[in-house]
Amino acid sequence: MEFGCNSGRTAAAILRNVDSVERYVGVDVRPGYSFACKVQAREVPAVPGELAIGDKRFELLLRDRGTFDLTPDDLPSCDVVFIDADHSRPAVLNDRKLAKAIVRPGGLVVYHDDNGLEVVDVSLALDGLADEGAEIVHIAGTWLAFERM
Ligand SMILES: C[S@@+](CC[C@H](N)C(=O)[O-])C[C@H]1O[C@@H](n2cnc3c(N)ncnc32)[C@H](O)[C@@H]1O
Repeated sequence: MEFGCNSGRTAAAILRNVDSVERYVGVDVRPGYSFACKVQAREVPAVPGELAIGDKRFELLLRDRGTFDLTPDDLPSCDVVFIDADHSRPAVLNDRKLAKAIVRPGGLVVYHDDNGLEVVDVSLALDGLADEGAEIVHIAGTWLAFERM
């Protein structure tokens, strides 16, 4: 599952390179979505999922407010959620809550944009969760972090 699949670039790369993936659900917003982080203002894709839609394993899920309009009951359980959607703190916390509810035991939540930059709140949100005891691991030299369920 990918929260914020955009044009499907990462989805296509994963589907091309990881044969064991049986199903890949990409979530995104519809045009008109308003971001809290200004740096993201132009990120809503013109054609969501277009690079992955040709793969039978890929499914696109669009909502006006993306993951804010979804509950765990709307989503299948899965092994991995890649969170790369709205990078504001409330959105990261919302996406993590949703991910935790659907990832199977032993699975992963992967976070993108854990980069310490002030234009997005991902590191701020993850550091806050770590202070509360969450075991979130930053991968050195990347913008990625992960948490095992
Ligand atoms: C940085 S781009 C994602 C890039 C993509 N993950 C990739 O690797 O190619 C962020 C995406 O998140 C989407 N987005 C923003 N808020 C969202 C939300 N609440 N739920 C789902 N997607 C959201 C945006 O429309 C945009 O397509």
